[in-house]
Amino acid sequence: MSDHFRHVLSHVPTGVAVIAGIGGDGPAGLAVGSFTSISLDPPLVGFFCDRGSTSWPPIRESGGFCANVLAAGQGELAAHFAHKGGSKFDGLEWEPAPFTGSPVLEGTLAWLDCRLEREVELGDHSLVVGTPLELVVSGEGSPLVFFRGDYRG
Ligand SMILES: Cc1cc2nc3c(=O)[nH]c(=O)nc-3n(C[C@H](O)[C@H](O)[C@H](O)COP(=O)(O)O)c2cc1C
Repeated sequence: MSDHFRHVLSHVPTGVAVIAGIGGDGPAGLAVGSFTSISLDPPLVGFFCDRGSTSWPPIRESGGFCANVLAAGQGELAAHFAHKGGSKFDGLEWEPAPFTGSPVLEGTLAWLDCRLEREVELGDHSLVVGTPLELVVSGEGSPLVFFRGDYRG
């Protein structure tokens, strides 16, 4: 079932975002394909986080995160943040987001500095919900798209 599940769901195209934050040991982040808007009034955004994520617990502790929406051509960056462990921010350029201090990456399409509102456990993932405190369009052009196991855009 799980192979079939993965295969069929790999045909659902997604954008790619890097969820980044400042943990006790410094910046942390992970790539997600599930970042989306949830509600307009009040404004809420969210993503689904694997409960085995190693980067999310320290970000959660900080109470906020920045969703960095990747642009076409940032597939390598996405793959970098889709790996576990290591200092993912070594040698990376980033600026602190204005409200949470979470990392804002370079060359993205948009970023949203968010306050963590709540987290709801759903199977082996949780739905992470945030309130965007600052929303910025940071670039033009096409998005990075993940489809059938490949980056496109
Ligand atoms: C295109 C793409 C989309 C992904 N989407 C998600 C996602 O929505 N939620 C999630 O928890 N992990 C997602 N992942 C997997 C994480 O990036 C991966 O498990 C990563 O190793 C987590 O790192 P961490 O252990 O440092 O948190 C995705 C990976 C890729 C390549």
